Amino acid sequence: MLKTKPTPGDTKWFVNDRFGMFIHWGLYSLGARHEWLKHYEEFDDADYDRRYFKHFDPDLYNPELWAQAASDAGMKYFVITTKHHEGFCLWDSKLTDYKAPNTPYGKDALTPMVDAFRGRNMKVGFYHSLIDWHHPHYMIDKVIGPHRNKDRDALNAGRDQMKYADYLHGQVRELLTQFGHVDVLWFDFSYPCKEGENRTDFSLGKGREAWRSEELYKMIRQLQPHVILDDRLDIPDGWDVKTPEQVQPTEWIKVDGTPVVWEACQTFSGSWGYHRDEASWKSVDMLVQMLIDSVSKGGNLLLNVGPTGRGDLDQRALDRLQGMGKWMARHNRSIYGCTQAPDEFKSPTDCRYTYNPDKKRLYVHVLAWPYRHLHLPGLAGKVEYAQLLNDASELKMKADEWITKQVQLPADTLTMELPVQKPDVTVPVIELFLK
Ligand code: GLC
Repeated sequence: MLKTKPTPGDTKWFVNDRFGMFIHWGLYSLGARHEWLKHYEEFDDADYDRRYFKHFDPDLYNPELWAQAASDAGMKYFVITTKHHEGFCLWDSKLTDYKAPNTPYGKDALTPMVDAFRGRNMKVGFYHSLIDWHHPHYMIDKVIGPHRNKDRDALNAGRDQMKYADYLHGQVRELLTQFGHVDVLWFDFSYPCKEGENRTDFSLGKGREAWRSEELYKMIRQLQPHVILDDRLDIPDGWDVKTPEQVQPTEWIKVDGTPVVWEACQTFSGSWGYHRDEASWKSVDMLVQMLIDSVSKGGNLLLNVGPTGRGDLDQRALDRLQGMGKWMARHNRSIYGCTQAPDEFKSPTDCRYTYNPDKKRLYVHVLAWPYRHLHLPGLAGKVEYAQLLNDASELKMKADEWITKQVQLPADTLTMELPVQKPDVTVPVIELFLK
């Protein structure tokens, strides 16, 4: 078993639970064409707010339904955008007027969500944007933001990034003191200037100096020492989890050669916020494989939904969540409590292994169903019993010279005899009880 680098946050539940729901929901959900639309279309505040702030009225919002959809899919935690880059806050922050209670919706949208997910025993995570395209003291830089191509010097006159940092710290304090036990804090993101440039010129980029990350980190550890912190504050050791985004790694993620806790975040279709016209939706098959793939490399999957401006999940999202839930209902034993298999077990090309170290069970996820036989290197003599996980039907094992000789395999190969017909599940799983 690989041992991960120790970090201060409580990651014990996290590496057991493996599967969470990311939720991107804000004013951009009304634009329905990407959560960065304020940046892409270079909106000024007045125009943006005239459209979206003035019309934010999610009349179908019922967080019980979201929590149920997540829980039925097999997800064990959720991470919600308390504020995204646009600056709009879902909760009743005392530090800004730019919040859900001041829209036509007229109330705090975060508390009922936290209650609903907690009510289903799910852990609570807050995504919070370091970036803010609305705050009057956030320095305009040349990299991102709606005003990047305008006269930045003129627009920056009178702005004081440290006042913004005070606001950021104050809001994080609210989030960590007004919602009970917070399990995950997910900041997004730092983009420091190039090497050799002045790191405190915040019109070139923004790193730890722009957020006063170290001070923020201390406050977080004081308020909620256990919280799992992502890796985007731009401080070398101030994180618990690495967060590859929209990309699956080829092996367990390491830092200085040591494996670390990691979580891939992925979307259904590309954009994080609700996107009406995107056609690049992944199939249930691909999504299930993505989850398996993450766990097979010792990681988690945080899978994103972008609820609509009316506050519900659209049919495409519901279909995928249901499909994953159907698979999870029969196969979650190969996900929860599981991790990468010990190095001595090398999985065949068309398979992914996960391993439950407490139960000593190896799970073979068969991505391409072979004809009749599956040859598993190094496992001869090591398996006490084998079954298909979906229906607990026994699978015969043949550590048989007659077979291995014919196809020229090493003698320690275990050959499983499979039914000719692939079981009628998204990804069939073989459960091996090791001796
Ligand atoms: C990116 C994007 C963002 C999204 C995030 C999730 O950094 O800025 O829109 O929230 O990825 O990881």
